[in-house]
Amino acid sequence: GKKEEPAAVEPAASAPAPAPAPTVYAVGTDAAYAPFESQDEKGEIVGFDIDVLKAIAAKAGFEVKFINTPWEGIFNSLGQGDRDIVISAVTITDERKQTLDFSDAYFDAAQLIAVRDNSKVTKFADLKKLKVGVQTGTTGDEAVTKLQGKTSTNIKRFESTPLALKELESGGVDAVVADNGVVIHHVANNPGAKFKTISDTEFAPEQYGIAVKKGNTAVLEKINQGLAGIKADGTYDQIYTKYFGA
Ligand code: ARG
Repeated sequence: GKKEEPAAVEPAASAPAPAPAPTVYAVGTDAAYAPFESQDEKGEIVGFDIDVLKAIAAKAGFEVKFINTPWEGIFNSLGQGDRDIVISAVTITDERKQTLDFSDAYFDAAQLIAVRDNSKVTKFADLKKLKVGVQTGTTGDEAVTKLQGKTSTNIKRFESTPLALKELESGGVDAVVADNGVVIHHVANNPGAKFKTISDTEFAPEQYGIAVKKGNTAVLEKINQGLAGIKADGTYDQIYTKYFGA
């Protein structure tokens, strides 16, 4: 065993200082995007993104507090310092990289079309002249805007993706274009809506990243270090399987 030193030769000043409390980062997420982020019955924010960032934080030694934040304005919340981090199934794009910094990619995605099951639509090009619902400012919005043109009056923009899907159910739009994971989750959980999905290789592959204010390398490095850690130790795969199966 260890021998105790006499008190006289071990001054109190040498006692280690208590570890500083870990920094708590404010995280913005648009929690109407199951299975990535949504609110449960108790109003708690839950989902794949939430589990991933919590695991990253645990690995890298920081803490996170999730704040439901409307998609519109979510990136500005970083610039204004209201949020330190945004995780919200955000696709890494060159345009967004001009104003934000992104972590390494943590998820692969693509756009997917949802239509009512009696629809004749079979491919993205069929949406050229149809009424299409999208969430404002998403990559789905960008894809449909590119197809129909900036001045098209057939693009119906909604502040959330569930609102666009509700409009599809009630017949106000002919299709919705949104991230595959969210569309698949919605169709599986709303059999009464009688939707089907259509994929198309026209849609570019997308990757989700975690966003911070441009130049916030201190936080970004911690995130990337934690992300590499949870990919290496199996935690990421565990979370992936929990939400998307093996
Ligand atoms: N991945 C798409 C984009 O970055 C949609 C993300 C929307 N996320 C959300 N939580 N509503 O544009």
